[in-house]
Amino acid sequence: MSGERTMGDGPVASGGPAAGSGDGPGAPPATAGLAADGAAPAAGKVLYAIVTGAPPARDVDVLVRLAHADGWRVCVVASPDGARFLDEPALAELTGHPVLSRYRKPGETQAPPPPDAMLVAPATCNTLVKWSAGISDTLALGLIVEAIGRRIPLVAVPFSNWAHMAHPAVGESVARLRSWGVTVLLGDEVYPLHDPGPSDKYAPLFPWRLAWQAVSTR
Ligand SMILES: Cc1cc2nc3c(=O)[nH]c(=O)nc-3n(C[C@H](O)[C@H](O)[C@H](O)COP(=O)(O)O)c2cc1C
Repeated sequence: MSGERTMGDGPVASGGPAAGSGDGPGAPPATAGLAADGAAPAAGKVLYAIVTGAPPARDVDVLVRLAHADGWRVCVVASPDGARFLDEPALAELTGHPVLSRYRKPGETQAPPPPDAMLVAPATCNTLVKWSAGISDTLALGLIVEAIGRRIPLVAVPFSNWAHMAHPAVGESVARLRSWGVTVLLGDEVYPLHDPGPSDKYAPLFPWRLAWQAVSTR
């Protein structure tokens, strides 16, 4: 093995317009005040938007536009299950970077710019538990596991139902991640956990603006 990995080592690339206004009662739509094209800045800090397999993933373009408006560049990295929710070409066009969802093939040299921060949103229960255990079997996990060691600012916003979130392993994982410096946005003031069952209808409640504020103020 080469012994040297860069952030995004192994990637192969994964939007669409969305609402995403779950930032508390009376909050404006997350896209309020943003330029329609949301163009990426040519320079500036770099956010890795780590997207995992839950319905709010479809709306990650809302986050991208918020970050762009504050002068950040964004690289979207999706778990393989997260990628199933995405419009990869649209996100690539919006961000100027391919969506990465797999470790690179040997010989490939895709390398996104190094990150200044990472936001895991939406964060599935699956990813929270694997992340806290140091498991790196997806590119998204590999990056966020390594980011703890690198002390890169990390924010996570879980999205699941109350029953799934109530499993002891999930709570323990959140506590461990917090103890290692990860900001985990969780609680009724962030997102009131929904009931078990199909969760697509809850995706518009995802607090993208709170998520971005947590990154940009860290
Ligand atoms: C339509 C659909 C909706 C899902 N919603 C959620 C969810 O809201 N929260 C969650 O933790 N998992 C949800 N899952 C299950 C995850 O996608 C599944 O656990 C997957 O293994 C997560 O992989 P990842 O963490 O690598 O993205 C959903 C799956 C599907 C197909």
